[in-house]
Amino acid sequence: MNSKKLAAEHAVQFIKSGMIVGLGTGSTAHFAIHAIGARVQAGLTIQAIATSEQSEALARELEIPIVSFQEVNEIDLTIDGADEVDSDLNVIKGGGGALLREKIVASASRELIIIVDESKVVSQLGAFPLPIEVVPFGIEMTMKKLAALLECPLTVRQSGNKPFVTDNEHYIVDCHTGSIADAGKLTRELNMIPGVVENGLFIGMAAKVIVGYMDGAVRELN
Ligand code: A5P
Repeated sequence: MNSKKLAAEHAVQFIKSGMIVGLGTGSTAHFAIHAIGARVQAGLTIQAIATSEQSEALARELEIPIVSFQEVNEIDLTIDGADEVDSDLNVIKGGGGALLREKIVASASRELIIIVDESKVVSQLGAFPLPIEVVPFGIEMTMKKLAALLECPLTVRQSGNKPFVTDNEHYIVDCHTGSIADAGKLTRELNMIPGVVENGLFIGMAAKVIVGYMDGAVRELN
């Protein structure tokens, strides 16, 4: 079986009736939303908040009840994918461009479960280019400040021949940092730069990482 699907289906078992559930974004989260949809069809009663327009549309198709932050105080459990995960359960996210809503939903969640295939597990974060969500206004200045801090190649993510635009009308700058020695310090420094809305480092947020393997095994990292 597909190792992303294995991790996703394992994680969905942690959902119980009555929960408010955060729905992630990306191909692994897609499997999770389908598995949640199947459980809802079978009688699970939950309400969900999605981390992207795309995931919300899929959830609605599958008849998963969607609520907004106006209706709930807290999310019980969020299940989301990642681009890289280290052994301290620190994570890089945002390869799909949904990192801002993903971080808002994760930070409103009592528990965040990250679901990945084995290729995402690394000893140190940073081989995957770090996505940083920025306001289009003044992006040239924001990128100069990012370049001074990071001292690495930066690219504005493209969609066709135009910049990729997020669900919140921002751009994404992908930063080829290489190994990140102190991810906690870096996330604080990045978010101090005017024009930076959020960055893809999720530090100390995941309670559990579920890894699916090509040979059919599933492992929980706590
Ligand atoms: C979306 O912005 C991302 O954070 C995704 O969760 C991440 O890129 C993992 O995506 P896949 O599950 O498609 O690999």
